[in-house]
Amino acid sequence: MNLAELQALYDFSDCTILVTGGAGVLGGEIACALVGCHANVVILDRDTELAEKVIERFPKVVKGRGVRVYGDVLKPETLQQANETIKAEFGTVDVLINAAGGNHPAATTSMDLSFFDLPVETLRQVGDLNLLGTILPCQVFGRGMAERGEGVILNISSMSALRPLTRIPAYSSAKAAVTNFTQWLAVHMAQNYSPRIRVNAIAPGFFLTEQNRFLLTDRESGELTARGKSIIAHTPMDRFGTPEDLLGATMWLISPAAAFVTGAVIPIDGGFSAFSGV
Ligand SMILES: NC(=O)c1ccc[n+]([C@@H]2O[C@H](COP(=O)([O-])OP(=O)(O)OC[C@H]3O[C@@H](n4cnc5c(N)ncnc54)[C@H](OP(=O)(O)O)[C@@H]3O)[C@@H](O)[C@H]2O)c1
Repeated sequence: MNLAELQALYDFSDCTILVTGGAGVLGGEIACALVGCHANVVILDRDTELAEKVIERFPKVVKGRGVRVYGDVLKPETLQQANETIKAEFGTVDVLINAAGGNHPAATTSMDLSFFDLPVETLRQVGDLNLLGTILPCQVFGRGMAERGEGVILNISSMSALRPLTRIPAYSSAKAAVTNFTQWLAVHMAQNYSPRIRVNAIAPGFFLTEQNRFLLTDRESGELTARGKSIIAHTPMDRFGTPEDLLGATMWLISPAAAFVTGAVIPIDGGFSAFSGV
């Protein structure tokens, strides 16, 4: 959906939305669209220069505004510090979108690197970034939601959580844990704090981004790799996703239109997860 179509459906005026990893490809696209729908958006990332570049892309003639804060999703003290900055600027975090995450080449099996030789530090790094990097922001920014009795959390899982993809064991298992944690936190928040705190996730399929570009396309020729071809062959819609493909489901899940939706993990995958291959 383009911005005009999203603006016709969603208005996040007076809503403060924090996007972790918001300087990244998918988080950045989501952040831009949210500002376009009048939200105040805080981009939290380790790379504040990259975050500033995303802010420069924000639509100008709208009510919402964007700011960036430094934060490392694996360092709670930086998240606490960011929380204080956001409180001073906007008051509360109404919506938390956990978009920081990803795989690491050294945690990917290949002809040169067998499963048995994957280094423990990169396995731990990928596990921590995706799982702990989701849990820790939920602790820091979810506390305010629990105190107020309302709020929305949206996590980013992956297709590889449903059925593990080959070659990326740490990433797949960590994303499966993100799906599980999303369901756990949805129940925990509703039962212990407020049924008006909702926790959901999206599970993107295959989006050609910097993290996976050279797994899916050849570095020299730009042609699809065997893995890229196999993905397209298993995607009934016959293409990779584009970052804009995430926007409609994201906005729906964080908006009052999804008021009775919690603990859901929505695939955005062009039908990949529905297709048996036959
Ligand atoms: N791309 C896909 O096809 C796809 C498919 C399914 C799910 N996903 C998930 O979607 C999310 C966004 O992916 P993406 O493709 O947009 O990746 P991306 O472009 O690499 O964005 C991730 C962002 O998170 C930041 N980040 C990494 N570690 C961090 C930390 N410890 N603290 C704070 N920020 C940190 C990165 O900054 P640095 O540059 O400093 O590392 C980057 O700006 C991830 O969870 C990914 O696993 C992606």
